[in-house]
Amino acid sequence: MDKPRIVVLGSYNTDLVTFSPRIPQPGETILGSGFKTGPGGKGSNQAVAAARVGAAVTFVGRIGRDMFGEMALKVWQEAGIATDYVIQDGEAPTGVATIIVDDHGENIIVVASGANWRVSPADVERAEPAIAASRVFLTQLETPPEAVRRGLQIARQHGATTILNPAPGQPLTPDLLALVDIITPNQTEAAIITGVSSANATEACAALRAHGANTVVMTLGSEGVLLYDDGGPQHFPAFKVDKVVDTTGAGDAFNGGLAVALAEGKPLAEAIRFASATGAISVTRPGATESMPTRAEVEAFLRR
Ligand code: RIB
Repeated sequence: MDKPRIVVLGSYNTDLVTFSPRIPQPGETILGSGFKTGPGGKGSNQAVAAARVGAAVTFVGRIGRDMFGEMALKVWQEAGIATDYVIQDGEAPTGVATIIVDDHGENIIVVASGANWRVSPADVERAEPAIAASRVFLTQLETPPEAVRRGLQIARQHGATTILNPAPGQPLTPDLLALVDIITPNQTEAAIITGVSSANATEACAALRAHGANTVVMTLGSEGVLLYDDGGPQHFPAFKVDKVVDTTGAGDAFNGGLAVALAEGKPLAEAIRFASATGAISVTRPGATESMPTRAEVEAFLRR
């Protein structure tokens, strides 16, 4: 079977990761247990996940003309990702994410966007031939909203399935949500999008749909996934893993897996199962991009 084509519009960050027994309080200094630099960025993580689990991926984004940008190109080359529409920007540095990971694998992240925030609608328009040839267009919110909107519009015009992973969360208007076939927030992001806070995931999904969203695939961490579409809510339990090492990039693994399964024509429920397995494997490994599993690993995991 030919690999299905997917375009990912998004960010690349170099992740500066400090491992720490716990996340410190504001104003507090604590001693960590280690440090690591690695490739990340929600867009690039999702692109690498999609490439590893079986898609022909084209990435659209910007990096700086610096050492970190060279690292990005190497990562994409190794993953077999097409970079024809990646711009090496001389005016801004490659994005950087400062991350703390605690002993339970939980994290906090601050992103300095750099070149990612200079991705323009014109950059996305240049990638129209790739988008037109794709079954799925996948994007997030680590690049400017006007570029995201343009990408969704072009993908819609060409009949690609559009997936928006609305991370980091920000308020979104109904007209933008109308361009999205499947939105994949967590509960916090859903509340930021709608301005309606709810402790109940079903209510949070319903609020998002009332705000203009189509199909909602809400990730609930260890609680699994809640799908809310025209058929109503449906819960998918999470896969159990032996030990959670690092949850950084788990959502990205999920989105990459979901995009590939849908591009292969799998029904949504099956695609969510495939995506959940992709995410579950990623939390058992350190790092973001580096934790993304291969197709063989996901299939073996699903056969367990
Ligand atoms: O989703 C995880 C990613 O968020 C990290 O790789 C970091 O770069 C930030 O973009």
